[in-house]
Amino acid sequence: MPHASHAPELLDAHSLRPHNTFGFDVRARHAMKIDSVEAASLLCRDGRLAGMTQLVLGGGSNLVLTRDFDGVALIVNIEGKRVIAEDAGSWLVEAGAGENWHGFVAWTLAQGMPGLENLALIPGTVGAAPIQNIGAYGLEMGERFERLSAVELATGARIEFDRAQCAFGYRDSFFKRAGRGRFMITSVVFRLPKRWQPRADYADIARALEGASSYDAQAIFDAVVAVRRAKLPDWTVLGNAGSFFKNPVVSAQAFDTLRQREPGIVSYPQVDGSVKLAAGWLIDQCGWKGRGVGGAAVHDRQALVLVNRGGATGAQVLELAGAIQRDVRARFDVELEIEPVTL
Ligand code: EPU
Repeated sequence: MPHASHAPELLDAHSLRPHNTFGFDVRARHAMKIDSVEAASLLCRDGRLAGMTQLVLGGGSNLVLTRDFDGVALIVNIEGKRVIAEDAGSWLVEAGAGENWHGFVAWTLAQGMPGLENLALIPGTVGAAPIQNIGAYGLEMGERFERLSAVELATGARIEFDRAQCAFGYRDSFFKRAGRGRFMITSVVFRLPKRWQPRADYADIARALEGASSYDAQAIFDAVVAVRRAKLPDWTVLGNAGSFFKNPVVSAQAFDTLRQREPGIVSYPQVDGSVKLAAGWLIDQCGWKGRGVGGAAVHDRQALVLVNRGGATGAQVLELAGAIQRDVRARFDVELEIEPVTL
């Protein structure tokens, strides 16, 4: 039997550079690595942290750090992946919040339990996935989500959240709103249906699979990986946080007016009659692709992604984002909302 766990070490002046995919060179006054639920629930009683602002960090892949952080960064390292149950229709699989998301997706496929393949290669951790309800190529994580476990930082209470309580939306959840900053997600359970149905309608994926008479989940996984590698910069080479803005949703009426002026506009009708626009297209039309401010630039293959070409600060990225928002507003009368969490 292991001994009661020791309190985690409190690190000082800790560089957050390896903990944010933009690669911003900022420091946290303190940092602590949390590798168990027990350690997470004891944080509220740790006198060393009294009065300190806390920041829960997963992979830092959806985060813009604009300056040094005067508090304690809690780096979530809780590991583990397992199949926890099965019924006639599905498998339930659970992963620790610190697990790498892509590694977890690959593992589910290796278990013969497909269903997450459209979300291959998304950077970040399992615990961060529900916060922005990651989505790509026709699937959102919320569709495969069963429940999650979290620790309330102020009380140390362990709390379970079901899907309704998470209030998932497009790149949105309770944890970006009322729950912001209050919880450390410690593990997530997914429900993977045994009767697998491919999601291969997204244009880029359909194109990558063209010619194949039939395909399995692994083929979709491979197609998603190939499309992402072709379009999206690898953050280990060129720092970024994926899409920097949400795709904006406008009313049917506003869309009609826009389309008369801009016949080529890329759009996706929504079930409620509103219309989602491709922010990347709007930004591209404004001529921003490849342009930038200092080390901060718009990626040259996907205008929705802002990159750190080297030495950029979070403030420069936000300045660039502001200039893009102004141009898109002036030309299309559309507001772009920043997607990553800024700090
Ligand atoms: N487009 C352009 N120019 C550009 C970029 C895009 O004209 O520079 C056009 C494309 O040709 C396409 C449309 O805009 O017709 C949409 O582009 P794409 O398929 O690349 O997807 P996206 O809408 O830009 C969204 C997600 C991505 C996700 C992809 C695939 C958001 C904010 N972004 O991007 O998610 O991978 O769809 O599903 O919803 C992320 O959230 O970090 C992310 C990468």
